[in-house]
Amino acid sequence: MKKIRHLQAKLLVAGAVIALVGVAWYQLTAFSVAEPTPAELLIAQNRWPETDADSLYDGYKTFTTRCTKCHGLKNVGRFTETEWASTLNKMAKKAKLNEEEKENVKRYILTEREYLLSPRPAKARI
Ligand code: HEC
Repeated sequence: MKKIRHLQAKLLVAGAVIALVGVAWYQLTAFSVAEPTPAELLIAQNRWPETDADSLYDGYKTFTTRCTKCHGLKNVGRFTETEWASTLNKMAKKAKLNEEEKENVKRYILTEREYLLSPRPAKARI
């Protein structure tokens, strides 16, 4: 009886450790994005001058709602621009985006990507 209780306690501790590692792993690897900032709008307008805050926000909305129907939020920094171009062609069809939605989400993804990957002074990194 004592032995069984000892084993149960061990299993409980092991289970708790596995759960904690799982949560920590998820927290460290999960990718998230925030609403586009004025700084990101400037990056977008640098490339596509006619971009406005509304269309960039629309791209953000599409990315965070319609592009997460089948899988989690994809890390925009994990793919090159060339990879994004071909992936987006495929995914826009899967998400049934119209031309405007596709263009907005493309601009949002490439802007966010540039923003995340651009070198900044070490002090400015959070
Ligand atoms: C109908 C389901 C569905 C929707 C909606 C969808 N995807 Fe996907 N996505 C998939 C599947 C399935 C895969 C993995 C197989 C593949 O690469 O085709 C995938 C893979 C990916 C990948 C990884 C590609 C790689 O080469 O590793 C990226 C990035 C991606 N999707 C982005 C998006 C974006 C951005 C959107 C919104 C425009 C989107 N997905 C919407 C189903 C979907």
